[in-house]
Amino acid sequence: MFADTKKLLQNAQKHNYAVGHFNINNMELVQGIVRAAEKLNAPVILATSEGAIKYAGMEYLFCLAQTAAHQVNVPVALHLDHGQDLEVIRKAITMGYSSVMIDASHEPFEKNIRRTTQVVQMAHRKGVSVEAELGTIGGAEYLVSSRKILYTDPAKAREFVEQTGCDFLAVAIGTSHGAYKFAGKAQLRLDILKQIKKAIRVPLVLHGASGVSQKIVKEAEKYGAKLEGVQGVPSQQISQAIKQGITKINTDTDLRLAFDAAVRKVIQTKPKDFDPRHILGPARESVQKMAEERIRLFSSAGKR
Ligand code: G3H
Ligand code: 13P
Ligand code: ZN
Repeated sequence: MFADTKKLLQNAQKHNYAVGHFNINNMELVQGIVRAAEKLNAPVILATSEGAIKYAGMEYLFCLAQTAAHQVNVPVALHLDHGQDLEVIRKAITMGYSSVMIDASHEPFEKNIRRTTQVVQMAHRKGVSVEAELGTIGGAEYLVSSRKILYTDPAKAREFVEQTGCDFLAVAIGTSHGAYKFAGKAQLRLDILKQIKKAIRVPLVLHGASGVSQKIVKEAEKYGAKLEGVQGVPSQQISQAIKQGITKINTDTDLRLAFDAAVRKVIQTKPKDFDPRHILGPARESVQKMAEERIRLFSSAGKR
């Protein structure tokens, strides 16, 4: 049985920490993440994007996550990340996801409200909670993209939450998806976050929050990756964002980099080894280490 995302976030809100949302695409990612959560006694949210679902299939990812949740003693929630297709959202709700995100942030305000309200009504009937987004988070992933960042307007956020009844809100305060988050100095708009926090009570979500660790980047580059110009959100700013009320933090890029660095290392250093377990086993360990670092940073260790 999956944990209730809303309860996890309400608890985090009460005790001033953030729950880690980690994107999954395959078994090694799922195992790396839940092993980290179990080791640190932390609640965790596994998340599937529509891109991940296209790649692996919703049933496969659901069953992997369900098996993981059964095997560990920490709360594991399953979340649909950046849902845009109503059919995918409906299927996730019916299948038993803990929560879904409706991402209509690219639409005009009124249409975002209409689409979000529609999903809230559908999800709440089944006891599933809903994350919505207001403002736009920059960057480009496989199916998730936006060219520029439009900061969330605190007054609009209040109106949006009141009208839609969404359970948590993803805010745009300067982060973007992927490994190239800032052209110059990394700086989140914590001043805007502070105003949003004053205006609304629902838990707040930070997307595009990966740190893009220099250590992992160097390791991947040592074995052939080309990652010039990458930059993530500094850890200190993540801690400040948590202090200002962020209670769910999304990480995908950091796991991809950790996975990539480990795979590259095996391929380059063991050219005669072609056993997938020897290639993906170290990637799973590297993902676990990265997830542990993130969980510690979010102060959710020991909060099961
Ligand atoms: O927020 C976006 C996530 O990193 C998912 O990316 O669409 O490439 O799976 P994806
Ligand atoms: P990163 O690309 O910074 O890991 O963000 C992931 C994310 O926001 C998933 O929804
Ligand atoms: Zn995101």
